[in-house]
Amino acid sequence: MPFIAFEGLDGSGKSTLMNQLETQLKKNQISVVRTREPGGTQLGEEIREIILRISGEAPTPRTELLLYQAIRAQHVDQKIRPALVQKQWVLSDRFAASSLAFQAGGRSIAESDVLWLNSFSTQNLFPDLTVLLDLPVEKSEIRRQQREQNTGIQSDRIEKEKQDFHQRVRDSFLSQAKQNSQTWLVLDAEKSTEQLFENLWTDLRRRGWVSSPL
Ligand code: TMP
Repeated sequence: MPFIAFEGLDGSGKSTLMNQLETQLKKNQISVVRTREPGGTQLGEEIREIILRISGEAPTPRTELLLYQAIRAQHVDQKIRPALVQKQWVLSDRFAASSLAFQAGGRSIAESDVLWLNSFSTQNLFPDLTVLLDLPVEKSEIRRQQREQNTGIQSDRIEKEKQDFHQRVRDSFLSQAKQNSQTWLVLDAEKSTEQLFENLWTDLRRRGWVSSPL
């Protein structure tokens, strides 16, 4: 069964697109597991709190990378592999590509180290498809500020990084997509939610994973 990861800058609309896909798959009687990183398991959610909190001792870049990888190993072993064995689709809000984008791109850790750790933590289980919701950094920043005003949800430690950090993250996502064009789908996150979902569904039909029209 397909394992699909959704990636992009914060505020790029991953959750909305995932909601639409989950609803449509369920309408087609397809069994889906929806999950996320950092998180996905009880232990992973606990480590997530530590990584993203603004108060307390901040992890150094290497520690941060290892914490994300610890979450990923637990996530793969406890949730993703078992779901795939049970013939369920897996939709994950972020996965290994985020470590390359944020820790190699953003934090400038050597890409070769992140690649090795990704393959260790996943035991080489990678998504069949990664959907990148591509958004310019300035737009992501505006959406984040709006969210803060509308919901009162504070930006986390990573979101508070400077613009050039987020630019490196975006550049890394785009370069990963280019290097793996068969398994990545890049969508323009500024399009309407209807248009984005239509593009995604068309891609899934082209891959032969779903057959019904929208
Ligand atoms: P979220 O807000 O999409 O749930 O993700 C939390 C933050 O964690 C987000 O800013 C991206 C960051 N992140 C990394 O830096 N490395 C990773 O490996 C993952 C999965 C997320």
